[in-house]
Amino acid sequence: MGDTPEDLPEHVAANRAAWDVYAADYVEAAEVNWRRPPGQETWGIFGLPESQLRMLPDDLAGKDAVELGCGTGYVSAWMARRGARVVGIDNSAKQLETAARIQREHGLAFPLIHGNAEQVPYPDASFDFAISEYGAVLWADPDAWVPEAARLLRPGGRLHVLTNSVLKYLVDPDDEDEPPTDRLLRPQFGMRRMVWPGSESVEFHLAHSDWIRLFTATGFEILELLEPQAPVGATSRWMPSGTEWATKWPAEEIWKVRKRG
Ligand SMILES: C[S@@+](CC[C@H](N)C(=O)[O-])C[C@H]1O[C@@H](n2cnc3c(N)ncnc32)[C@H](O)[C@@H]1O
Repeated sequence: MGDTPEDLPEHVAANRAAWDVYAADYVEAAEVNWRRPPGQETWGIFGLPESQLRMLPDDLAGKDAVELGCGTGYVSAWMARRGARVVGIDNSAKQLETAARIQREHGLAFPLIHGNAEQVPYPDASFDFAISEYGAVLWADPDAWVPEAARLLRPGGRLHVLTNSVLKYLVDPDDEDEPPTDRLLRPQFGMRRMVWPGSESVEFHLAHSDWIRLFTATGFEILELLEPQAPVGATSRWMPSGTEWATKWPAEEIWKVRKRG
């Protein structure tokens, strides 16, 4: 399959167009995140510290790492600073323009591939570690990108992902300006592909049982599921409606899995 918009799967083409527009809103956060030194990395909606979430393996030095949906490339930069040989792939040329500019400013070069994380142009078993923070894990088809991650990883290689929690998906109002509720607003059964009202982009949300089934069917063993709590009083530009809900229920979830040897 080629990589022109006509050849891309419908959701990939839609997300490419959408993210080329959203990209302008991600420049400021990129500048800040690129400046975080090793040990000071932060994650997700609430900027939770690496020391708490341990998204990055301790032994990245000398390892091959890929970021699936790298956006502005700050997670890739963090891995490169920890000594990994890094490749970032992203579906949006505009996001990668930001990444490339900041790379030059920081004098930190690594390959940035414009493409779909469901079909990464690297041979089997090219990487020791794969990661996605709200990248492919949210915006690519899990039935395509998870087997692709398994193909790319060497035996024993880890995949760490951070995305919205199932619960937040179930209770978020259609109006994104409204805070999450304490009522179930949509069914869990059948959840998967989601286009929020008024949006052009396509997200994917899986129930925990579906993640477990998919990871195990594609050759992964599950190491950990984290459901971090927001700190009381936290504010976040990514949850402008207020973060109190996330002090009571998990807004995000992290899966850490390892390719069976
Ligand atoms: C919220 S950003 C996450 C990246 C990074 N953490 C950041 O904030 O810059 C989501 C990214 O996923 C990318 N993306 C969406 N679908 C993709 C796909 N099929 N393959 C690769 N990247 C994809 C988008 O282009 C966007 O840059």
